[in-house]
Amino acid sequence: MRDYREFLAEILIPEARLQARVLELAAEISRDFAGRDLMLVCILRGGVMFLADLMRALSVPHTVDFMAVSSYGAGVRSTTGQVRISLDLTTSIEGRNVLIVEDIIDSGFTLASVLELLSARRPQSLQVCTLLDKAERRETEVPIAYCGFVIPNKFVFGYGLDLDEYYRNLPFVGVVQPEKFFAP
Ligand code: PRP
Repeated sequence: MRDYREFLAEILIPEARLQARVLELAAEISRDFAGRDLMLVCILRGGVMFLADLMRALSVPHTVDFMAVSSYGAGVRSTTGQVRISLDLTTSIEGRNVLIVEDIIDSGFTLASVLELLSARRPQSLQVCTLLDKAERRETEVPIAYCGFVIPNKFVFGYGLDLDEYYRNLPFVGVVQPEKFFAP
């Protein structure tokens, strides 16, 4: 696998800024959920870095569970049935205060489907926390309770986000120069 510096256009969000924002979000969530039961639901795989840092910074007790979803493909453009669950939660969310933890929201279709699927399971509350919001790409409205950064429509990677499944481990969010990454 190539060194990311070969195709890095810029570091959009450096590590220190990411970590500082995660602490702010964790403080906000800890305030909001003080005295309430909290369950974090991480959407694999991109959300794992954010989840791990967020969990460590939360001061309220919480449980975690994971789910993975796959898209039916770009041709499917309704919010219902946009995704299928490829890995389901192992615990019930009925009556729980659920906070979905995502790395990025782009069109919004994934999250809209996940919200629909999970709300049918009767949680007490269901909210979304995303690290990144590519707001200008939104095609369907989704409610976001906690957002780390609104970012421009650039091809980003690192801190959970992959390029062909690699580079999720990088501690910053970088922008790809596509012509260099996809060069033969
Ligand atoms: C990303 C991200 C969201 C989704 C957002 O996942 O984690 O789940 O895309 O896109 P949308 O708003 O246009 O639906 P991806 O499919 O890249 O999987 P990954 O997290 O395993 O990398």
